[in-house]
Amino acid sequence: MSTAQTWNDILPSEECTRGKNPIRAYVENVLSKAKPNLQKKKITFTLGDPAVYPEFQVEHSVADIISQDVEKSLQLQEPEGPLASRQYVANIYSTDQWKLKADDVFLTMGGSSSLWLLLNVLTNPGDNILVPSPGFPLIFAMAENRNVNLVSYELQSGEDGYIDLEDLEAKLQTSNAKFLLVNNPSNPLGTVWSEEHIRDILALARKYQVPIVADEMYELLVFGSCQPICIGKLSPSQPIFVISGLSKACFVPGWRCGWIVCYGKQEIISEVKKGLKKLCQFYRHPNAVAALKVPEVFEMGKKFGKERMLLVERKAKLIKEKLRGVQGITLYNTKGALYLSIFLDFSKFKNIENSQQFALKLFEEENINVLPGSLFYKDNMIRLVILCSDDDIDDFATRFKEFCERLLIVENNNA
Ligand SMILES: Cc1ncc(COP(=O)(O)O)c(C=O)c1O
Repeated sequence: MSTAQTWNDILPSEECTRGKNPIRAYVENVLSKAKPNLQKKKITFTLGDPAVYPEFQVEHSVADIISQDVEKSLQLQEPEGPLASRQYVANIYSTDQWKLKADDVFLTMGGSSSLWLLLNVLTNPGDNILVPSPGFPLIFAMAENRNVNLVSYELQSGEDGYIDLEDLEAKLQTSNAKFLLVNNPSNPLGTVWSEEHIRDILALARKYQVPIVADEMYELLVFGSCQPICIGKLSPSQPIFVISGLSKACFVPGWRCGWIVCYGKQEIISEVKKGLKKLCQFYRHPNAVAALKVPEVFEMGKKFGKERMLLVERKAKLIKEKLRGVQGITLYNTKGALYLSIFLDFSKFKNIENSQQFALKLFEEENINVLPGSLFYKDNMIRLVILCSDDDIDDFATRFKEFCERLLIVENNNA
């Protein structure tokens, strides 16, 4: 007897088809079809993973920590993360006046997972959230996936990348947002805010009673004399959910270990904490190997961070110096993170109307790979990850300059 049957297509859920990681979508669907100029050496400024750049490989001592007593990690840990690691995180985010407890901390599978958890606990489909423009785009895709609406507020494209506070206040007034997402130090701008500016943001969030989700993944990655300031420490009785982790601070994104720190009066935030705990019990926590070693790895990150950031700062300055005088572009001084944005004046360039056209042409003519600002909700820029070798920076600067010169509209003053 024949048992042959035809199967119907198995379709993914509707939810699953909504929202795509914009950077992945660009790399897989757009870049993969572009034809780079293979006569020239490939230079890539798109990979935000510090572990792939030879000068930023993790020290053996950090890798050694994780492999010691690995048998202790065979057991399942608490869904919110091992107690000792949560207590360590609670201690480093406490102030003299505001002592956090281990149960104010949730360990997660990295910053992305922290964003997902908070989005799912703080919003329902149809709600609005306030997000920065430009900003790290994963939350845009997650929100689309959850049917949550984005209301973007403007970051000024100056030296400081400050929020346009008037714009933010207007949006806080009208959007009925479930939370305000801030990201400092900034991906993609590489800017770091002053304490005064952070206090202004806190005051606005208090005035409109909007919780803050503060993405501080780059908290240890600041240049020279810049001091990282945790927004939660400045106003710990206010509802603020700080996101950080090992990925960027310790240059180990593959270990997938991050956290959420909950500030605020318990009577206000306790239901949110219950929600986070419940979702963590759906097993969204980090693997025990990394989670158990959070204290040692983070301390190591603090130790090596300054040295690494001196190198990043030097590379940022080098790029800026080498591109000085190129027409049609503006670079600002960055103060941290791993990025630098180049702002583009399309009115100066022939046949270029948006950042994706610019980035693709640069790839096709020069085999230089950068991400267009459109992926970060800001179309007049491109983003560079500034971790490549000095030789590549030299080469990039020469070819980028020539590229911009070819694109420039020549003004005819005698006309
Ligand atoms: C601002 C920001 N937040 C969150 C993340 C996600 O971090 P993770 O790799 O730990 O998921 C990134 C990663 O690039 C980021 O730039």
